[in-house]
Amino acid sequence: MGIQISPSMLSSDFANLEAEAARIAGADWLHVDVMDNHFVPNLTLGAPVIEALAKVAKQPIDAHLMIENPDQWAPSFVEAGAGSVTFHVEAAAAPVRLAREIRALGARASMALKPATPIEPYRDMLGELDMVLIMTVEPGFGGQSFLDLCLPKIERTRTLIERHGGEIWLQVDGGVSVDTIERCAAAGADVFVAGSAVFGADDPDAMISTLRDLASAQDVDE
Ligand code: DX5
Ligand code: ZN
Repeated sequence: MGIQISPSMLSSDFANLEAEAARIAGADWLHVDVMDNHFVPNLTLGAPVIEALAKVAKQPIDAHLMIENPDQWAPSFVEAGAGSVTFHVEAAAAPVRLAREIRALGARASMALKPATPIEPYRDMLGELDMVLIMTVEPGFGGQSFLDLCLPKIERTRTLIERHGGEIWLQVDGGVSVDTIERCAAAGADVFVAGSAVFGADDPDAMISTLRDLASAQDVDE
């Protein structure tokens, strides 16, 4: 699939989501951060907003659920029109059942890990997943500094994915910018979430191209 850029709408103008999506025509996905003020200390939006955005946006929705009890709530985000649904493994009671349910409803199933959560206990789950999200900040807010301590885990996850075979995407989220994207790509990431880097740029769509070029230059599989 190659390199993909999924700008985080958390850094966009919530009063103009349709126009903000149109401003980033080069984006492969729209990353939408769902926070419940329990799993993370911040509150954003839910399935009704995703449903409204999915109806007007050209790009598919990449829903990142930072919520407790994703087992109960994740299916409603597929029904709202998300093409990819990411749940946090720290919050899921039955991650295998949940991944299967997301896929059965017709979306890509993705599992996220916070910075201190290791990938190794979940290696046998890879066959149930379309994507793994390695958080490169503690989830909850945009604009935080990239955590270099996550790079070895990106490398180990890439190795496990290669060993497993099949096409499983490896997403990074948090502090991804022109200063950090090359490190992530070199470590093996192929889907890049960027919020403040994209929407803080004078020309968000040009920033997407810049980020894509920087990542592509590191991508050994290209
Ligand atoms: C943080 C969210 C991110 C956030 C990234 O918990 O999951 O998607 O919007 O923002 P930046 O790119 O500014 O770090
Ligand atoms: Zn996110």
